[in-house]
Amino acid sequence: MTWRTKPLALILATAERKGLKRQLGAFQLMMLGIGAVIGTGIFVLTSVAANKAGPGMMWSFVIAAVVCLLTALIYAEIASMVPVSGSAYTYSYAVLGETVAWMVGWALILEYAVAAGAVAVGWSGYINGFLQSVGYGLPPSLTAGPADTTTLPDGTQVAGVFNLLAFLISLFVTWILVIGTSHSAKFTAVLVVVKIAALTAFILIALPAVNTANFAPLLPNGWGTPLSGVGVLGAAASIFFAYVGFDAVSTAAEETTNPNRNIPIGLIGSLVVCTIFYLLVAYAATGAVGAQPGGELSQSKEPLAFVLRHLGWPHVGNWVAAAAIVALPSVVLMMMFGQTRILFTMSRDGLMPGIFSRVHKRFHTPHVVTMITGTAVALFAGLFPVGALADISNSGTLFAFGVVALGVMILRVKEPHHPRAFRTPFIWVVGPLAILGCALLFVSLGAYTIKLFFFWAAIGLALYYLYGRKHSHLANGTEPDLN
Ligand code: ALA
Repeated sequence: MTWRTKPLALILATAERKGLKRQLGAFQLMMLGIGAVIGTGIFVLTSVAANKAGPGMMWSFVIAAVVCLLTALIYAEIASMVPVSGSAYTYSYAVLGETVAWMVGWALILEYAVAAGAVAVGWSGYINGFLQSVGYGLPPSLTAGPADTTTLPDGTQVAGVFNLLAFLISLFVTWILVIGTSHSAKFTAVLVVVKIAALTAFILIALPAVNTANFAPLLPNGWGTPLSGVGVLGAAASIFFAYVGFDAVSTAAEETTNPNRNIPIGLIGSLVVCTIFYLLVAYAATGAVGAQPGGELSQSKEPLAFVLRHLGWPHVGNWVAAAAIVALPSVVLMMMFGQTRILFTMSRDGLMPGIFSRVHKRFHTPHVVTMITGTAVALFAGLFPVGALADISNSGTLFAFGVVALGVMILRVKEPHHPRAFRTPFIWVVGPLAILGCALLFVSLGAYTIKLFFFWAAIGLALYYLYGRKHSHLANGTEPDLN
C-alpha cells in the first residue's frame, strides 16, 4: 500500500490557479443536483424494484434515501473544505493516500461510466415504446441486449441481440462532449422543469387512483437476505441508483458563491426535493396499479407511462414518455462528463496515461478520454440490461461513498483546525451510520454484482502496481506546473 497523500494545500493551490469564476448560487446548485439525479432510476427502475420487493419497494425508496441523505451531509463538509472538482477521488488522495485514491477513482469508473450506460438503456425503453406506438418500432432483436428481453405486443418475451438506440444515444452524447457544448445552465434548468412537470402530472393522476388493496401482500419477497439481490433491501440496493448524482453538486464547489451556505443547501436540498417526489411516485404507482413481482408494472420498460395508460390517461402517459425521452440524455451526459473529468484528473496526477489529459486544440475538451469513455459506455448500453448496469454502478458508488465518509472522520482527527465552511452535524453518529448504510446496501446487491465488483477491484489494484505507482507525479516529484 502507498499511503502518500497529496497535501490539501497542494490540491487547493491547483484549484486556485485554475481560477474558475465563482458564480453559482444555491438555486443553480439545486438545479444542477436535481438535473443529475432524476433519471432512469425513477422513470425505469421502479419496475425493477417492484419485481424485487413488490409493494414493499416503498420501504426500499426510504432506505436508499436515508443512506444518501447521510452521505450528502458528509459530502457537504468535504466539498466545502476541499472545494475542487475531482470528487471522491481527490478527497481520498488528500486523506487516505494514493492506493485508496486510486481504488476510489477506479470504482468511480463503475459509478459514472456504467451509470451512463444504464441511463442510456433506460432511455431506450421509452424511445422504443414511442416508436412502436407510432408504427415504426425496431425489430425486437435491436431493442435489447443479449442478456435482456423485449415484451412483444402479444405478451410473449423474446431475447434481444443488441440495443441499437441505447448504443447510438451514447455515441451522440460523446460527440456533444467532444465538441464541448455541454455547459448550459439554462438548458439544464429547462430539463429539470420538464422532469418535475412529468413527475407532478404522474402524481396528480395516480395518487387519487390509489387502492389500498394493491398493497397486499406488502412484502411478497420479505426484507431480503445478504447477497440475494431480492426483497426490500435488494430493491433498495438497486433503487439507490435513482438518488445517485447529487454528488455532482460537490464537483461545482469551486464555482460557488458563498460555498459555506450554498453547497450544503445545493447538496441536501436537491436530494430532499428528489426524495419527496420519489416517495410520492412510488406510493402512487404501487397503489394505483399494484406492484407484485412478475406483475405488469414489474415487467414494463416504461413503467410510469404504463401506469398512466393503464389508468386511462394515454395522452398524459405519452407526454411523460416524451419528457423521459427529452430529458434522460442530459443525465447520460452528466454521468459521462463526470467520468471524463475523473480520468482527466487521474491522468494529470500521473496515475493514468498522459494521453487521457490531452486537450483538443479547437474544442478545448479532453477529446481522447471522452471518445474512449464514450465507446465503452455505448458498448455497455448496447449489450447489457438496465438493472444489471445500475447494480454494478451502485457497487462502485457505495464503495466511494463509504470511503469518503471514512475520510471525513479521519480529517476531523488529523486536521481538526483546518477551516470547515460546513461541519457535518453529529459526525460521530452520521459518519458511522453512513458507512453502515453503504455496507448494508452493498451486501444487498446480488452475489453476481458483488463478485464483479471484486474482480474489477483486483484488476484495478494490479494496474495500480504495474502502472500508477511508478508514474505518479507525487511520487516522482513531477507535479506539472499548471500555470
Ligand atoms: N440518478 C440518476 C438516474 O436515476 C443516475 O438516472
